[in-house]
Amino acid sequence: MFNQEKLQKLTLQVTKLAREAGDFQLRELKNFELSKIEQKGRSNDLVSYVDKETEKLLIETLQKLVPDAGFETEEGTIEQSKTGLRWVIDPLDGTTNFLHKLPLFSISIALANNEEILLGVVHEPSRNECFYAWKDGGAYMNGERLETSKIDSLHESLIATGFPYSLRGKAEQYFSLIRHFVETTHGVRRLGSAAIDMCYVACGRFEAYFEFNLKPWDVAAGIIIVREAGGIVTNYSGGSDGCHTAEEICATGKGIHSAMIETFKKIW
Ligand code: IPD
Ligand code: CA
Ligand code: CA
Repeated sequence: MFNQEKLQKLTLQVTKLAREAGDFQLRELKNFELSKIEQKGRSNDLVSYVDKETEKLLIETLQKLVPDAGFETEEGTIEQSKTGLRWVIDPLDGTTNFLHKLPLFSISIALANNEEILLGVVHEPSRNECFYAWKDGGAYMNGERLETSKIDSLHESLIATGFPYSLRGKAEQYFSLIRHFVETTHGVRRLGSAAIDMCYVACGRFEAYFEFNLKPWDVAAGIIIVREAGGIVTNYSGGSDGCHTAEEICATGKGIHSAMIETFKKIW
């Protein structure tokens, strides 16, 4: 359906769109007031008009780029399809940071066909860093080819994680993992945008990232970017479920993947 040339062209068109959306978010960030938020349910699951407006802006152009693709989006501003050819979108990943004017958030867009991810774009507007990859075409940031870290010991690794909105009865195991990594690595970071965490694994800033209870739109673009940069993305048992690897995700450079899985076997 899509050859290499078509996928590359499409990916670059999507990076242009993500940059436009990023410019909109940076403009809105200046005037944003905390009173303009809504709660999605839990007290820590927030959304604003910026999330929704960005999603609409993305959909408008993506519909023209691939007219037969559906949409699986966080804000659900259009009819949803969870299978087949579809755009998997998180219009603003790092909403809580954005709402508090912490300039660490991203736009995450992937094109998937069932569980196969064809391309991914993650744009971080504040740093003007646009990460992207397409299937079998490599991973890039602002035109530069990406490679994951070559470090092969946990002791020399910097690890990223995220605190999911719901710990779903796993709080004890999760905090044991954090404790273990705090004691055995260079450190543990929590940035607040899963998509950025994954891109930082792709470019070697982090050796590994893990989280659980995420949704496909948090990680779909990041998964292909890490893999095309030579990294490994699996669940905590070492298997993979396409976009649904979101339920348990471990993204690493090649060197420490097995050490991470060993740790999950012991503690999770
Ligand atoms: C969240 C971010 C965060 C992660 C949460 C996600 P949102 O997405 O990716 O890093 O820890 O679990 O839900 O709500 O900012 O789009
Ligand atoms: Ca998200
Ligand atoms: Ca979001």
